[in-house]
Amino acid sequence: MSPPAMPLAKFVQTLELLTEEAQNSFAQASDADQLDESRVEFLGAKKGRLKLIQKDLAGIENSEKPAAGKSLNATKQAIQQAFDEAKKRLLGDQDKVVRDPKFDATLPGTKFRMGKLHPITQTINELKDIMGRLGFTPAQGPEVEDDYHNFQALNIPMSHPARDPLDNFYLSVAGKHSGAVAAGEEDNPTLMRSQTSTVQIREMERIDPPIRMVSLGRVYRPDTADWSHYPMFHQIEGLMIDKSVTLADLKTVLKLFATSYLGDEVPIRIRPSFFPFTEPSVEADYYWDGKWVEFGGAGIVDPNVLKSVGYDPEKYSGFAFGLGIERLCMIRHQITDIRYLFTNDVRFLRQF
Ligand code: PHE
Repeated sequence: MSPPAMPLAKFVQTLELLTEEAQNSFAQASDADQLDESRVEFLGAKKGRLKLIQKDLAGIENSEKPAAGKSLNATKQAIQQAFDEAKKRLLGDQDKVVRDPKFDATLPGTKFRMGKLHPITQTINELKDIMGRLGFTPAQGPEVEDDYHNFQALNIPMSHPARDPLDNFYLSVAGKHSGAVAAGEEDNPTLMRSQTSTVQIREMERIDPPIRMVSLGRVYRPDTADWSHYPMFHQIEGLMIDKSVTLADLKTVLKLFATSYLGDEVPIRIRPSFFPFTEPSVEADYYWDGKWVEFGGAGIVDPNVLKSVGYDPEKYSGFAFGLGIERLCMIRHQITDIRYLFTNDVRFLRQF
């Protein structure tokens, strides 16, 4: 079947109309996406309208084919030119940019400095990870605590110096004789927790043994800031409760913990100490860089503490430890002053 005859005049007229339509369309494009849509519509290699019209060439008288071909090529050029102009209008003259003597396209791009986690946050994540591998699950407690969880349940008696208002950030007035306190407050004032041992109590209140928990967070004490003290710092608290847990288990966990964090075989030693909530209590040290470094406090959970949360001390025992996170972080990174960690000078923080 021969294609339908196509008069030359009609072919040329169709091309003229198409040119006009394409020019309008390109001129009206207001962004690169619109322009590209128009390009596909008119110049698309497969289904572009110019391509479709090209098929009509076959229906033109042989004698008129050269004229028709000429007209087709002129149309192609006109549409392409309209497209190039629209592109220049929308995207700028890119050749000119590349030739601009003030612009060197071969230079590396501007380096963008990514933000990072604070070194203490990095340390916390790492310590949590290490304890996780030893089977300890993360737990959390509030930073605004009550006297009961910060002291009473931890077997710290009313008369104990640790409760001194000068050593704690109390948020309400303690003492039965002060007038303006809410009902119940006088026996259980609120304070910023001074230790993460509070979470031992909260966790034991929440679940039954066996327990292996680790809690990392901020604690507050009104210390004057110097190279090794700050009124806010971080502790990691560990608690393991099960049947017949001993000091040997504690030593093993602390040794594995120090070895994992510091990356070398780290010897551990324990010295007798005193905490109201552990019996016996120890001070743990690890050997690092030629000397013994204080690790923190630890011990076997006092039966009175187990009783305060309703556990049977005849059935269960456990160990607890509380270590300063800043000190670990400072030793590992050779930071000489704790204040660097909290003054947030980016030149310091960027190094981690
Ligand atoms: N909470 C104690 C402190 O802040 C450390 C500690 C934790 C001691 C657990 C024994 C058991 O000093």
